[in-house]
Amino acid sequence: TGRTAIPVARDAAELHRYGAPDTSRAVVMTMGALHEGHAANIRAARALLPPGGQLVVTVYVNPLQFGPDEDYERYPRTLEADVALAAEAGADLVFAPSDAVMYPAGPPAVRVSAGELGERLEGASRPGHFDGVLTVVAKLLHLTRPDHAFFGEKDAQQLALIRGMVRDLDFPVEIVATPTVRDPDGLARSSRNRYLSPSERASALALGRALRAGAAAAGRGPAAVRAAAHEVLAAEPGVAPDYLVLAGPLDFREVPDDHTGEAVLALAARVGATRLIDNVRITVG
Ligand code: PAJ
Repeated sequence: TGRTAIPVARDAAELHRYGAPDTSRAVVMTMGALHEGHAANIRAARALLPPGGQLVVTVYVNPLQFGPDEDYERYPRTLEADVALAAEAGADLVFAPSDAVMYPAGPPAVRVSAGELGERLEGASRPGHFDGVLTVVAKLLHLTRPDHAFFGEKDAQQLALIRGMVRDLDFPVEIVATPTVRDPDGLARSSRNRYLSPSERASALALGRALRAGAAAAGRGPAAVRAAAHEVLAAEPGVAPDYLVLAGPLDFREVPDDHTGEAVLALAARVGATRLIDNVRITVG
């Protein structure tokens, strides 16, 4: 039901020239290389918007959130295909700023600090990553002024940090989470999946398998969940685990062994040269 051609705004002036929505505006932020996971966020946003609402998809590969040895240079940049996919999924407008538009004076001196949660798990492996994410998310919220902003549960720690920033700094926006989209074999969709060779892709299936094994052990408590997931990961020689945690969904701290109720089982692993993350929400006990 999407449109075949939608406008692309390159800076704040162009963004505002496309006008205020009749009712409300929603934003889906991405780094491009759009796939079915992004499309699900765009469709969820369209479904929530009232008639006359405006749906903006941002496409920007944010240099601040990449470490010096990460894949910033080779990150896929496919704007034309991204605009087509965004339109097809129901977006009204793409905002695709250049580095000069986003950071006219070079890397910004003033940034959002993600704090303690930003230094653990993904943050421990990627120092400064979440400060970079929150800084660009803050800027994109100011530029697009949405009523609702949609983020995927695939990046659960990022989602928790964005919720924290919005609460702590009083951003006038409602954050909406969308469930993780997977390939039929269970691999979570990711722009980085395209780096995987066929044999690496086969190895990567162990991530989703580990989460399912952990979830299946939910009735036996946290230690059983961790052990079941760990066993699956350890059995796959092509996968080098980085972390595996059963944590609270808001603070991302390991839950105690007597925990019952909501938790998130989250992991990161390297498959060849590619670092992948995945998680699943489970109810323990
Ligand atoms: P990116 O990795 O492009 O992801 C954009 C959005 O799509 C995020 O909210 C992410 O959680 C969501 N997403 C990715 N894969 C998904 C999947 N398989 N299922 C559901 N949602 C999925 O996350 C970022 O970009 C950046 O850090 C950003 C927030 C845009 C800031 O630069």
